[in-house]
Amino acid sequence: MSDPARLKVSVHSSVGHLDGQKQSIIEGLLCEHAFISPKYFYDSIGSRLFELITMIPEYYPTRTEQGLMASHREAIVTTVGVVDTLIDLGAGNCHKARELFSSIKPKQYLAIDISEDFLEESLAQMREAFPGIQMRAMAADLTQPITMDQDLLTQRKICFYPGSSIGNFDPDHAIRLLRNFRNLVDNSNSLDSDPPLAVNGGLLIGVDLVKDDKVLHAAYNDELGITAAFNRNVLTHVNTLITSDFNLADWGHDAFFNQALSRIEMHVYARRDLVVSWPGGERYFKSGESIHTENSYKYQIEIFKEMLLEAGYSEVKFWTDPQKWFAVFFAQA
Ligand code: AVJ
Repeated sequence: MSDPARLKVSVHSSVGHLDGQKQSIIEGLLCEHAFISPKYFYDSIGSRLFELITMIPEYYPTRTEQGLMASHREAIVTTVGVVDTLIDLGAGNCHKARELFSSIKPKQYLAIDISEDFLEESLAQMREAFPGIQMRAMAADLTQPITMDQDLLTQRKICFYPGSSIGNFDPDHAIRLLRNFRNLVDNSNSLDSDPPLAVNGGLLIGVDLVKDDKVLHAAYNDELGITAAFNRNVLTHVNTLITSDFNLADWGHDAFFNQALSRIEMHVYARRDLVVSWPGGERYFKSGESIHTENSYKYQIEIFKEMLLEAGYSEVKFWTDPQKWFAVFFAQA
């Protein structure tokens, strides 16, 4: 018999305590180079704006990933193997998992996302469309430990992290996250359990690749201005969270490829000298000064493969599109 305490994966569910969250947002605003975490993009407007981004012509990642997964479907399904539970990390509108259902046929679907309301809505639609699959939703911040229900521990689990969301984290942080995901699907330290546990699962993950600067730049500076709206909306969300008084009219969108660090950087910049205040504090911004809102790292295939191995995965396979713009990896825990 295994010790239940040992089975507890380092997981727990909730999006974090409000005070701590407020405090960390304020700390970011007061840094010399002010920043806001990209997780705050996803209020209900932000999640919808992101959904639009995935449809605009310049934003190639979503459609490239979908295309390559469709054309390599058989190989991917064979490699992934039997799935009891599909854990969708950052599920959003659940469209990507949905495409996998007919070929992967999971018994259970666990959708995790930071935006609780949006997730509930998406999952309600999913329940209707797939009455045969057991579904659960969990609102959680993936950078925090996630606690999984006891009954999932006996199953073969696959983590699904599409869309190159891993690009939001710098490489060291990304490796730590990949290791956490590995722990979620690793059954090997409970092999003496009764009933016996399923074999180890793995991670199916989408990663955006380095490519021509112009293609990258256009993807984050679309003509319709959807990405600009998505970026600037973070200030509205922050106003709600910390009762600050950001005035959207004073802030512009900036996105560029930082070649040296191989990442797209998004910033919002002050259009004039101004002061932003919140209960108990304020910050002066001079005209042109910016708040860093997101990094989106672009990888070389070999480098990302090394990161997966470094995170403890035993075997790595990958598929790409013909232009090698995007890659999907399966890493065996
Ligand atoms: C959801 C993090 C993958 O980095 O491309 C899209 C977010 N930001 N346009 C990305 C995003 C601006 C997106 N990820």
